[in-house]
Amino acid sequence: MQKKPVAKINAKKNLRPLILDLHQYTAGRSIEEIAHKYHIDPSRILKLGSNENVLGSSLKAKIAATFALDKVNIYPEVTSDKLANKIKKINRLKNVEVVVGNGMDHIFEMLARLFLNNGDETIISVPTFTPYELVTLWAGAKPRLIPLLKNSYQMNIKKILDSVNKKTKIIFICSPNNPTGNLMNSDDIKHILESTDKIVFLDEAYTEFPGNSLIKWIEKYPHLIIGRTFSKIFGLAGYRVGYAFIHKSLVTYYLNSITPFTVSRPAQSAALAALDDHDFFNKSVQMVKEAKEYYSRELSKSGIKYIPTDANFITIDTKPNKAKLIATKLLEKGIIVRDCSSFGYGAEYFLRITFGTKEQNKRVIDALRTNIHLCQ
Ligand SMILES: Cc1ncc(COP(=O)(O)O)c(C=O)c1O
Repeated sequence: MQKKPVAKINAKKNLRPLILDLHQYTAGRSIEEIAHKYHIDPSRILKLGSNENVLGSSLKAKIAATFALDKVNIYPEVTSDKLANKIKKINRLKNVEVVVGNGMDHIFEMLARLFLNNGDETIISVPTFTPYELVTLWAGAKPRLIPLLKNSYQMNIKKILDSVNKKTKIIFICSPNNPTGNLMNSDDIKHILESTDKIVFLDEAYTEFPGNSLIKWIEKYPHLIIGRTFSKIFGLAGYRVGYAFIHKSLVTYYLNSITPFTVSRPAQSAALAALDDHDFFNKSVQMVKEAKEYYSRELSKSGIKYIPTDANFITIDTKPNKAKLIATKLLEKGIIVRDCSSFGYGAEYFLRITFGTKEQNKRVIDALRTNIHLCQ
């Protein structure tokens, strides 16, 4: 074969065509970025745009992770069995197994790997967490996007069930939903589970705040898989640990398909220790409860519309103004919140604010009041 001159090689032409249409995931803004852009002292910046835990993380988890550094020359467990077993033991479920991943984001990728072929379909109620759509597209499958009902932000069950067809493989449900913050009606979830045998993936990233998980339902519905994360209540977003409850009839296939060693040794140790730190857990739940009451009261007083929330954040409806306008004003004051326009489907009018401490919340409310004309 004749050699091609190196200058003429077009590496791009090897890409799968669908990759050419993708765009990068939009994450919340970082402190460094805002400090640099607006010349603000980083210690004055509030990071309330990514639903992290503002209390930090459990000291026990940090100590455990530090001890684990001693063995970073050794690979971690292939599938994080020790952590999976501990979560399983705490939850005492019959015929339900636990799998661990590099953040729940990794679990979404695993779902695509397990269930999606080129040309298959998923059903997603929007606006919601965008990675469900992304993993569908990466697999060469098609997301069928069904808008949440106006005003209630609940699922449109009729449209969802009408969209199920031979190609449908996964129905994604996020409860509490990001970015609206509300729990999905559990009767609706049951209705879907009883009407179809397609995989129903329920994302419970924020479930510890309202404290009402549906994991028990997997005992009855083997096509239900429930995702959870250490990134929110446990404050370990930087370590990337997620997990899922999955029926025992599926777990072998999951483990046979998993990328090995995805969760680092310090991350596994931190997660194991975090499960034992009940004080940190309870403190986080309490802070969110108080913040929810504070925001609901103060926003109502100011006549700012918001969506009643069950998560560690609250979303205000800035219509007729785009949320970007008020988000920019807050950024100038060193307050990072989330303008939800990248979620699409009407979310350009949503401003999502992560709950903080009393002082932080007051600073946000004061800043919103100063710019009230942009919030209503
Ligand atoms: C609904 C939802 N699911 C999953 C995640 C991500 O979880 P992880 O950090 O474990 O990847 C987030 C993060 O914001 C989220 O909002």
